Amino acid sequence: MVIKTAEFVKSSDKWQDCPEPTMPEYAFIGRSNVGKSSLINAMMNHKYLAKTSGTPGKTQLINHFIINESWYLTDLPGYGYARVSKSMRRDFEKLITNYILNRKNLVNLFILVDARHTPQKIDLEFIEWCGENGIPFSIVFTKADKLKPNVVLANVDHYKEELLKTWEDLPELYVTSAEKKTGCDAILDFITKTNEFLMHNHIKF
Ligand code: GTP
Ligand code: MG
Repeated sequence: MVIKTAEFVKSSDKWQDCPEPTMPEYAFIGRSNVGKSSLINAMMNHKYLAKTSGTPGKTQLINHFIINESWYLTDLPGYGYARVSKSMRRDFEKLITNYILNRKNLVNLFILVDARHTPQKIDLEFIEWCGENGIPFSIVFTKADKLKPNVVLANVDHYKEELLKTWEDLPELYVTSAEKKTGCDAILDFITKTNEFLMHNHIKF
């Protein structure tokens, strides 16, 4: 996909305030600091579209971008950020889960996990929750540039084994690096194909 335009629309602190759900939407989610905003910028070939930071908890609102005037890309706050109060964490969780459950044009959720780590309980629980609620998702391994390729492959295999303990089929998996722009085209191809499928089948929101 050629990115002709990538525009910031708005930040919302609840799903009811999100832009009109008139186009297919793809959202990025994952633990705080996993690299959601960085990967969005890498995919869009834009350094500062989504705000990034070395400090976890940077993205605290639901941020909508319109791409090529035809689909929404959404940067969500991270879950499991330890350095905020319990009640604040619960507010974030509510914001995220309400958005996911109510956003009717949400076509796919990209769940980002750090390629360096073994499967984390919080991510596995979130993946499980998506399954229970029938939310379509893909898994995206981030920061692959920080590891040797064979280690990345071993970690991905390990993740697959973990998923196969509870899932019959594996979701789509992507290995990425925002730093090196690895995997961005594969994600964009998936979005292109999905958008075409929706158009050909006259699926509108
Ligand atoms: P929150 O908004 O706080 O939830 O974080 P986020 O998931 O949006 O992470 P963000 O994109 O802000 O990146 C967090 C840190 O990881 C930053 O210091 C980035 O530079 C770094 N980072 C993100 N992606 C990559 C990557 O692919 N490779 C490397 N080496 N660093 C990365
Ligand atoms: Mg962010």
